[in-house]
Amino acid sequence: MARSSYSTPKVLFGLVVSVVVSSALALPSSLYNSKILSRAEQVKDEYDYIIVGGGTAGLTVADRLTEDGKYSVLVIEYGSFDNSTSVTTIGGGGGGIGNASHLFILNSVPQPNLMNKTTAVIVGKLLGGSSAVNGLQFHRGQEEDYDRWGSPFGPDSDWSWKGILPYFKKALQFTPPNPDTAAALNIDYDETYWGNTSNVHASFPTFNWPMLKTEMAAFGDIPGAKFPPDSGAGKPGVFWYPTSADPATMTRSHSRTGHWDNIDRDNYETITGSKVLKVFFEGESASGVVFVPNNAKSDVDSTTVKARKEVIISAGTIHTPQILQASGVGPKSLLESASISVVADVPGVGQNFQDHPFRIGVTYTSIALDDNFTVHPDRTDLQLNATFKALADAEFAANRSGPLTIASGNAACFLPFPVIAPERFGAIAASYESQDPASYLPVDSHPTIVAGYAAQQASLAKALRSYKSAYYNLFLGGGPSEGALVFLHPVSRGTINIVPSDPFFTEPVVDYRALTNPTDIDIMVEFIRFTRRYFAVPSLAQFQPRETAPGLNVTSDSDLAEVVKNNISPSTFHPVGTAAMAPRELGGVVDEDLLVYGVKKLSVVDASIIPTLPGAYTQETVYALAEKASFKTFL
Ligand SMILES: Cc1cc2nc3c(=O)[nH]c(=O)nc-3n(C[C@H](O)[C@H](O)[C@H](O)COP(=O)(O)OP(=O)(O)OC[C@H]3O[C@@H](n4cnc5c(N)ncnc54)[C@H](O)[C@@H]3O)c2cc1C
Ligand SMILES: *[C@@H]1O[C@H](CO)[C@@H](O)[C@H](O)[C@H]1NC(C)=O
Ligand SMILES: *[C@@H]1O[C@H](CO)[C@@H](O)[C@H](O)[C@H]1NC(C)=O
Ligand SMILES: *[C@@H]1O[C@H](CO)[C@@H](O)[C@H](O)[C@H]1NC(C)=O
Ligand SMILES: *[C@@H]1O[C@H](CO)[C@@H](O)[C@H](O)[C@H]1NC(C)=O
Ligand SMILES: *[C@@H]1O[C@H](CO)[C@@H](O)[C@H](O)[C@H]1NC(C)=O
Ligand SMILES: *[C@@H]1O[C@H](CO)[C@@H](O)[C@H](O)[C@H]1NC(C)=O
Ligand SMILES: *[C@@H]1O[C@H](CO)[C@@H](O)[C@H](O)[C@H]1NC(C)=O
Ligand SMILES: *[C@@H]1O[C@H](CO)[C@@H](O)[C@H](O)[C@H]1NC(C)=O
Repeated sequence: MARSSYSTPKVLFGLVVSVVVSSALALPSSLYNSKILSRAEQVKDEYDYIIVGGGTAGLTVADRLTEDGKYSVLVIEYGSFDNSTSVTTIGGGGGGIGNASHLFILNSVPQPNLMNKTTAVIVGKLLGGSSAVNGLQFHRGQEEDYDRWGSPFGPDSDWSWKGILPYFKKALQFTPPNPDTAAALNIDYDETYWGNTSNVHASFPTFNWPMLKTEMAAFGDIPGAKFPPDSGAGKPGVFWYPTSADPATMTRSHSRTGHWDNIDRDNYETITGSKVLKVFFEGESASGVVFVPNNAKSDVDSTTVKARKEVIISAGTIHTPQILQASGVGPKSLLESASISVVADVPGVGQNFQDHPFRIGVTYTSIALDDNFTVHPDRTDLQLNATFKALADAEFAANRSGPLTIASGNAACFLPFPVIAPERFGAIAASYESQDPASYLPVDSHPTIVAGYAAQQASLAKALRSYKSAYYNLFLGGGPSEGALVFLHPVSRGTINIVPSDPFFTEPVVDYRALTNPTDIDIMVEFIRFTRRYFAVPSLAQFQPRETAPGLNVTSDSDLAEVVKNNISPSTFHPVGTAAMAPRELGGVVDEDLLVYGVKKLSVVDASIIPTLPGAYTQETVYALAEKASFKTFL
């Protein structure tokens, strides 16, 4: 064993296991300051901060808290470290969910409004969390989304667009498209919305579907559709956006590569393969956590570790409420049914669950490209066919560029509801606004949950009438098929709760309560009508778009509602809201400093604090809120 091989963190990581096994070598203790502790015995008794979950937010916060050397941090991550190509390769979209051992895959409860279908609930389960498995699309929501978060706290809340914009800039290193790519694809961008200091990269692949330019320009035929200057401008419209990729290597850039790799700090330790069961308290102060090996079926083999300053839960929207509830922080009646002693009655834990509904069942065909990207209006067999895939694979293997570096694509529209439904938006907003807020929430919802929903209802009714909030996202795939049509502000609310008979070792019960609020159906019916309007614009006529489902004869409200119910998936993998940041009297779980109500020294920093979904996919927002939390709360 050459001592020089200890000089780089990468090699150090590779050697940790053997070092521990042959501890008789009595190496200097500094060598044990590895980033990954290979056994629970190596965990110290106490750290300043314990971060539960080494995911998107967790590793961002861990990096920031350890930067100046003042605080010690232990990250406890359920999954493992994996740097194999199944993580790093961009792989043409969807590649990230190719390796099931990187995923938690739960089953939702049957959804009565979706013919009792269940949905696979999928989130990341490895160091890096969901940022290591996601579709790499980077965009942020609209100004109004972030203003909506802070508004219940009053006009001075800095959870606002203005308050979060500096952290969007801090969170990512933006590399503009190279001039040839920008010119070839008409990519507009405005660097003033970006920063260049983070190690998490936002960049553009050199390839993109040639048809994107045409598909984007076609929105010029839609009254009210705008083309904002940048995906980061906080404005709805049609735009290009970057991929979470390192432009130098064309590999996935995620929270682990940006906030963990190549960082060798004595005060930053990680233990993987470990599941946190619960937080423990001294009085009302969180004083540490209990964890077990991730394959444990009981707590016999548990380890206890203390936090001097704070326990930070970053286990994601699905598991953060489980940990809080199992620790005695949650709805009192639920905890009592599980025989868990109540540390704090916080009714909002596990409520207010939201995700972006996906796919509504309208599909198109016709715009066909051959291997040379020549358009053949009459050929339906060409798009993305086996020949094209083979070509793409070969090009990617040759220089890691080309079609497979586009991940899930780089252009989309994010349109306001008045643009989608110019004649009906007012009526739908009015009907939604007049609902009794309790009508479609779970029966017996706590009064603070109902009050919180009433506040959301008022602000979302406003958003339905606004030209500044996006509701409809058509992801542009460079071809005709609808693929990803995403509903950005659903109004139904679900729940995630522990199983009372086994809160610790059985996965929580995930209920999307999809389409429980009929306004969601009304809105998506208009989405189908709009999609038809889009494909009928004059500039696309040359490609002869043909609707393949449900068929142009399906037009009535009730028939279109059936199409929605039969096709919708309640998830685009963007779960949020189960530990919402909101005033306590409005069902909130954390305050503006992300501290959990009713206890001390316990905070939540992950997607679960998001009170209402942004009009964008969620990863860029999670990075920004984690940066903001690190600065505001801790430093
Ligand atoms: C398949 C997929 C595709 C997506 N595509 C996109 C996209 O293209 N664009 C976009 O913007 N967003 C996308 N998202 C969403 C985005 O990635 C997430 O919103 C974001 O990463 C969530 O970050 P988080 O920190 O809240 O949770 P995560 O990053 O999921 O981190 C939670 C971590 O906690 C760990 N953990 C859980 N329970 C425990 C426990 N008991 N003890 C210890 N550790 C625990 C988990 O293993 C995980 O590492 C996608 C998500 C998925 C899953
Ligand atoms: C899938 O992930 C596991 C666990 O990280 C890893 O051991 C394995 O090599 C991966 N499989 C592939 C095909 O990359
Ligand atoms: C869904 O399940 C419930 C409860 O089992 C049942 O009453 C209902 O008829 C089912 N609905 C459909 C569409 O199958
Ligand atoms: C980084 O950003 C700063 C401020 O926006 C700018 O002045 C500088 O030129 C940028 N540096 C690089 C290398 O892009
Ligand atoms: C991950 O793999 C890449 C490519 O092989 C390598 O350059 C990098 O150093 C690895 N990172 C770690 C932390 O091992
Ligand atoms: C694409 O271009 C190549 C090279 O010019 C040619 O050999 C091939 O036949 C073309 N393919 C089609 C479908 O036109
Ligand atoms: C793909 O397109 C080629 C022509 O470019 C065609 O010959 C072939 O049959 C198509 N493959 C499939 C699977 O449709
Ligand atoms: C690499 O990819 C680019 C972009 O698609 C392509 O123009 C170039 O020819 C490729 N180079 C090699 C050596 O394959
Ligand atoms: C639409 O037409 C299809 C095919 O002819 C038919 O099966 C379907 O029942 C029709 N739907 C309606 C609502 O008319």
